[in-house]
This record gives sequence, structure tokens and C-alpha cells, in this order.
Amino acid sequence: MLSAILALLPAIWAPGAVGLLLAYYILPVLLDPLREIPGPFLARFSRLWYFLEIYKGSYEITDIDLHKRHGSIVRIAPGEYSIEDPEAAKIIYGHGSTFLKAPWYSGWTPPYPNMANLFSDSDPHRHAFQRRKFAALYTMSSMVGYENLVNDCMDLINQRFSELAKLGKSFDLAHWLQCYAFDVIGDITFADRFGFLDMGEDKGGVFQAIDTRSAYSTFAGVFPRIHKIIFPWLPKTGGYGYVLEYTKTQIAKRQGELRDPKSSSTDGPPDIMTKILSAHEADSEKMTRQDMVTMCLSNIGAGSDTTAITLSSIFYHLIQHPQTMHKLRNEIDTAHAAGTISDPITFKEAQGLPYLQAVIKEGLRIHPATGLGLQRIVPNPGMHLSGQFFPGGSTVGINAWVAHQNTSIYGPDASAWRPERWIEFEEQGRTGEVEKYFLSFGLGSRTCFGKNISLLEMSKLVPFVLRRFDFRLAEEEMQDGVWATKSRWFVKVVDFRVRVSERMKEG
Ligand code: HEM
Repeated sequence: MLSAILALLPAIWAPGAVGLLLAYYILPVLLDPLREIPGPFLARFSRLWYFLEIYKGSYEITDIDLHKRHGSIVRIAPGEYSIEDPEAAKIIYGHGSTFLKAPWYSGWTPPYPNMANLFSDSDPHRHAFQRRKFAALYTMSSMVGYENLVNDCMDLINQRFSELAKLGKSFDLAHWLQCYAFDVIGDITFADRFGFLDMGEDKGGVFQAIDTRSAYSTFAGVFPRIHKIIFPWLPKTGGYGYVLEYTKTQIAKRQGELRDPKSSSTDGPPDIMTKILSAHEADSEKMTRQDMVTMCLSNIGAGSDTTAITLSSIFYHLIQHPQTMHKLRNEIDTAHAAGTISDPITFKEAQGLPYLQAVIKEGLRIHPATGLGLQRIVPNPGMHLSGQFFPGGSTVGINAWVAHQNTSIYGPDASAWRPERWIEFEEQGRTGEVEKYFLSFGLGSRTCFGKNISLLEMSKLVPFVLRRFDFRLAEEEMQDGVWATKSRWFVKVVDFRVRVSERMKEG
């Protein structure tokens, strides 16, 4: 009897399994009202295609290719689309938009209530409330107070590059730019550098830990339900733990100094931590302890790699295009000779150098720091985007890498490095229009919170370094003589090998 039942089992479960497969994967595809939207075949059935493409490390290039092949709307996963359309950008990200951040962002935050950070929070009210709380610390006018901290880090990078010039050995420029970006953020946040610029060492494994965490968050965000299960098991030690401990130690130190000002180790304008702590002492319910830790961690997590990547892009493209390097140096040297800029240059003076500002924008445009779409959920009952109706709940987004190739906005040479285009946009009165499709810092209510800090860091460092040093690529040490990048969320530079020499002695 039993053996007869066992013999029958395959006949029962095989059709059952096929039925389940049909119901779970095939039927939704057949019934999908958006089934006409083109895209990779596998992306119709599962999120695995998207996951594997990100894993390969060059998703931004895949996305550009997909749009070249299929047009303005491409499916990248079931119910999820990549869009390339300046008009759609206004609707998705424009002020007053009700498109919320997609579940992918939840991979960047612990899966517990009230632990969301500004970047990942999908609750628009809480996000707006939190953003208002900290806004004053990141305004353009507050940047003046951080200038001396940036100057200290520039002095150190000057010393390191002088040593490297004497040694004549090649080195990874992206690594030193990362040391600079991290130390500046440490200084602005805690009035205390991490110390990366002293030895160029990845102290406490911080760079590695942030890379590992970013990769985890990027992948976990593709399958957010799995994130909830895995997160509690992630190691709390190592480099990430180091940053957390560092943050907590700094908070305790500052708290002591605030209660006993005589013990203060800093005498300049207050850093971000001190300002947050003062607000905490004044009203600990409004500015909570969790707020302090989260904000400092997000400064470090969001503000270091992004700035280092953009600085790498600026230096790399200037070295690759000597005529633009020459033009920029001319602008800096002429301003210096005329006495219109100081040494070190101030942020205000740097903003008055049009070609420098054009170079920074072009560096941000040609190699955006983030390489995935800025995905959002279409609000109910749905919305028309790029001539297609998307039902509420669909996920849509625009990838900065794709947007910045748009020839109707950026011109027929959109794929080339040409800083002059930004000066032309200005002359043609098109800057406002172009900036509505400039996604390097995101757009709308979720635009980058630290944009001014990064502009401060970049506007000062680039002229400071170019006045003093010459760089040339150590092409023989780079595969095919060009740099390689590896993209998860951040499109990081892997082997930016250069040699440096002193351009002139300081007089
Ligand atoms: C060149 C440097 C930088 C680039 C290219 C950059 C890029 C971005 C982008 C694209 C977003 C929006 C992401 C989205 O819509 O999903 C963003 C958000 C954010 N960035 Fe930056 N960032 C830079 C520097 C910084 C710095 C220096 C800080 C902090 C000190 C920072 C803190 C943040 C925060 C907190 C958010 C979340 C804002 C919100 O959702 O309200 N970023 N950044």
C-alpha cells in the first residue's frame, strides 16, 4: 500500500510544482499591464537579474546600454523600471513630489523602528522633521566656520605629496583623496581628524569596513525582506565597529568639554558634533542621543567616499586632457598673480573662478559618485511618465550616469569631458534647465545634505594642489593604461596610479 502511494507521489508533486511555478513566476508576467515595456528577459521574472548585474560591478554602464537599445523606459526587475527623461525627473523628484524612496534604501539602515537615517528614511514626515533639525549645520553660510579645518588637511596632503614627489614612486591617488575626504569629514564633524593623512594607512580597517557595509546594503536592498533576517547576524566589530566606537568616544569627550569648557581641546568655531550636543543639552527630547550618533555616522558614510570619488574624477580627467589642465592652471595662476586669491584659497574666492567651477561640475557629471537609479515608488493611483502609465506601487528611478548622457540636455558630445559646456550653459541662460537633469547630488527634497561641505572640500583642494604639483599617469601599472572602477552603489576607482612632482617652491 505504502509503496503504491510512494510510486504515485511524483505524479502528484511534479504537476503541483509546475503549477506553483506558473502561478508565482509566469502568470504575473502574462498578466502584467506593463508587459510591453522592454528589458532583459530574466528581469521579467525575478530580481535576480538586477542583483547579478550589480554584482558584476559596472551596472551604470549596463543601464546606459539598456537605454541606448530600448529607449526611455527599461524594465530592470519585476515592477521596477529605469527611466531616461528630463520631464519624468521633474515629476519623480520635483518639489512637492509624493514619490517615496523605494524599499532598496532600507538596506542602508538597521531594520528596527526609529533607526532610519536621513538617507534611507522612507517616511516623508519624519524625514522632513529630521532634515529641518540639522539643516542650519550644512548651509552655505556655515561653511566659513569649517574652512580652517579643511586648511589643516590641505597642509597635510601638501606634506604627503611633497614626500611622494621626492620618492618618485607611483602611488594610488584615489587612496590619498579618500584619506583627505575622511579626515576633513572627521574634522568638520568632531574637530578631530581620523588621522588617515598622517600615514596613509587604513586605520582600524575603516575604508574596508565601509566598502563591505556599502556592498552589503546595496545587495540587501535588492531583497529587503532578507535584510531583516540577516542584519542581526552581521559582525558588530571590525572597521564599522571602530567608526561607531570613535563616534561614541567623541560624543563623550565633547559632552565633558561642554560641561567644563576649560577642558576644551579646540578653540575655533564649533564643529558639527559640538553644535548638535549644545542642541541636545538644550532640549534632549528634540535632539536625541540616537540623532547624534546617526547624524555623525551618516556624515562619515555618505560624505567621504562620494567626495573622494568626485575628486578622483576631476584629477583623472584633467590629467587625461592636458589642455583643460593648462586652462585651469592659467586661471589659478593669473588670479594668484593678480592677488585676487589667497593661499590657501578661500571657498568664496574659489567660487569666483568660473573655469574651476566648470571643472568641478564636469567631474561630477562625467563620473557621478552613485551608479544605481535613485528609485522611488509611484504614488496611488498611478502616474504617466515618459508617455507610459505606471500603476501606483511601481518602482521607477533615474540613474545619474544615464541622465548625464542625454544629448538634448548636455549636447552631442555628452559622453566627452568638456568643462567648457558649463560656461556655455551659463552664457545661453540654460543653467537652470540643465540643473533639473543634473543628478550627481540627487534632486528635490532628498537632494544631498552635504553638498556644500563637498563643494567646500573640492573647491579648495583642487586649486591648492594644482598650484604646487604636476601629476602624470603611471599607465604602465594600469590595465590598458586607463583606470578601472568597481561599482556597488558608489562607483569607486580601483587603480588610479600616478607619479607626482613639485611644480614650484613656495615663495
Ligand atoms: C561629491 C560629494 C557627494 C556626492 C556626489 C553626494 C551624492 C548624494 C546623492 C546622489 C544623494 C541622494 C541620493 C538619493 O536620492 O537617493 C545624497 C544624499 C545625501 N548625502 Fe550626499 N553626496 C556627497 C557628499 C556628501 C557629504 C559631504 C555629506 C555629509 C557630510 C553627504 C550626506 C548626504 C546625506 C545625509 C544624504 C541624504 C539626504 C536626504 O535624503 O535627505 N553627502 N548624496
